[in-house]
Amino acid sequence: MQVITGHGVAKVMDSGHPKFETGDFVWGITGWEEYSLITTPETLFKIEHTDDVVPLHYYTGILGLAGMTAYIGFYKIGSPKKGEHVFVSAASGAVGQLVGQFAKLMGCYVVGSASTKEKVINLQLYILFQFFLAQQGIFY
Ligand SMILES: NC(=O)c1ccc[n+]([C@@H]2O[C@H](COP(=O)([O-])OP(=O)(O)OC[C@H]3O[C@@H](n4cnc5c(N)ncnc54)[C@H](OP(=O)(O)O)[C@@H]3O)[C@@H](O)[C@H]2O)c1
Repeated sequence: MQVITGHGVAKVMDSGHPKFETGDFVWGITGWEEYSLITTPETLFKIEHTDDVVPLHYYTGILGLAGMTAYIGFYKIGSPKKGEHVFVSAASGAVGQLVGQFAKLMGCYVVGSASTKEKVINLQLYILFQFFLAQQGIFY
C-alpha cells in the first residue's frame, strides 16, 4: 500500500538534515499519515513564523503552494496595473480565489467564472467581485 502525498504542514520529530531541527515546523510535500519519513527534504520549506497571527494552516493555502502559484502567476507573470480588467477562470478554486483577491487589492476590475450558483454566491459574499456562471452563461 502506498501513502498518498500532498502539500501539508508537519513538525520535525528528528532530522539528519542541517536545515531542519527537531521541533521545527515545515510545509511542503508530506504524507497523509501521522508520521512520515521524508527522504526528499528539498521539497520542504521551514516555517519561520508560527503564532496566532499566522496560523499553521495558512501554509496549506495563501502561504503555501497555492499562494505562491497565485502570487507569481498574477504579479510576476501577469504584471497587472491598477485599473486593468482581470478575468479569473475557476475563480472559486484554491488559486483562483487568491488571484481574484490580489487583483481587487491592486485596484483592478475583476470578473470571475465558476460552475455553480453556490460558488458564485460564496465568492460574491466573501470576495465581492463580478461573476458569471460558466455553464449557463449567466452574468451577475
Ligand atoms: N493549488 C496549487 O497549489 C497549484 C500549484 C500549481 C499549479 N496549480 C494549477 O492551478 C490550477 C488551479 O488549481 P487549484 O488548486 O486552484 O484547483 P482547484 O481548487 O481544484 O480548482 C479547480 C477548479 O477548476 C474548475 N474546473 C474543473 N474542471 C474544469 C473544466 N473542465 N473546465 C473549466 N473549469 C474547470 C473547477 O471550478 P468550477 O467548478 O468553479 O468551474 C474547480 O473548482 C490548476 O491547473 C492546477 O494544476 C495549482
